[in-house]
Amino acid sequence: MANPLIDRFGRRIDYVRLSVTDRCDLRCRYCMAEKMQFAPSRELLSLDELAELSDMLIARGVKRIRLTGGEPLVRRGVLGLVETIGQRLGHGLDELTLTTNGTRLAAMAEQLARAGVKRINVSLDSLDPDRFRAITRNGDLGKVLQGVATARAAGLKVKINMVVLRDLNEHEVRGVLQWCAHEGHDLSLIETMPLGETGEDRTARYVPLDDVRRRLGNWYQLVPSSHKTGGPARYYDVPEIGGRIGFITPHTSNFCASCNRIRITATGVVFGCLGRNQQVPLRDAMRTGGREAVDVLLDKVMGAKPQRHDFDMTERLPTLGRHMSVTGG
Ligand code: GTP
Ligand code: 5AD
Ligand code: SF4
Repeated sequence: MANPLIDRFGRRIDYVRLSVTDRCDLRCRYCMAEKMQFAPSRELLSLDELAELSDMLIARGVKRIRLTGGEPLVRRGVLGLVETIGQRLGHGLDELTLTTNGTRLAAMAEQLARAGVKRINVSLDSLDPDRFRAITRNGDLGKVLQGVATARAAGLKVKINMVVLRDLNEHEVRGVLQWCAHEGHDLSLIETMPLGETGEDRTARYVPLDDVRRRLGNWYQLVPSSHKTGGPARYYDVPEIGGRIGFITPHTSNFCASCNRIRITATGVVFGCLGRNQQVPLRDAMRTGGREAVDVLLDKVMGAKPQRHDFDMTERLPTLGRHMSVTGG
């Protein structure tokens, strides 16, 4: 393959997180502010452009594409895009996945599976309906559970994402793990990251996952697992309940040395690192200069991709002004 994407630290980039919208039907407290300003629709890459961009990325050796948001399933026509990109599976693309809040899965899971999606990650921070409502600012847990059940019935493998938050859901970790093991889902616990003003005190909500792992050790032996998804999670098997749990620990155990990814916003801006501001806009170049212009800019991203994030969890204010929902994590 011509000219693979390799950054200046020798990291091979073969995974892209493609945000299809910055909008969402929920307002998780650690992710968004209650009132958000979203990119105007006219600024977005069209669905055709997103498909074209995916092809350009595949031509540069990208093997996995994860559609993100905001909430990817609120973008009108997204299933058509999934179908189009799904046709590249086995022709350069190895995996097409999504990270979703699950509210629309009940209606869409079947079509995702038919388009070639094999597994999805679903954000689910509480199994208590009131707490779920509080964390998401009015989300309906029942809808998400129904979505997850439909996804499983459609043959999709589900990984549950849980951002662990002090005084909100910290005490629920064991219960969620038991539920996941029982249902056959993997679980990823996530340390909250300081992106965008959300109206919350990040430092007060932050729970180091080392503490959680130690606490879980009181009940279970956590056996380091060889399971790898290519993502930042480090996995452990939980033999007592037949489960598997991953820890995403940007703060307590940095994983940036093995980074394999870039992310692209719904308006076509590439961020080399989730936790930094270096960015390269692709959209206008794509419209005027096509594939060659995009190739030049992707090389520029490789030259500027930071070595690691520099999140600061000691400050109440976020490290970056940009919200997580802009890049979809
Ligand atoms: P798989 O490993 O393929 O299942 O996906 P993932 O865990 O990488 O993706 P997901 O969208 O489920 O993201 C889970 C969490 O990991 C979110 O909080 C993301 O923001 C975070 N995350 C994903 N990639 C990165 C990264 O490159 N850097 C950092 N700091 N966090 C990341
Ligand atoms: N810190 C860590 N994870 C976050 N997510 C959203 N905002 C944050 C944050 N500030 C998670 C969501 C979703 C994934 C894409 O990122 O819960 O599962
Ligand atoms: Fe929406 Fe996901 Fe952000 Fe929650 S974490 S507000 S579900 S984009």
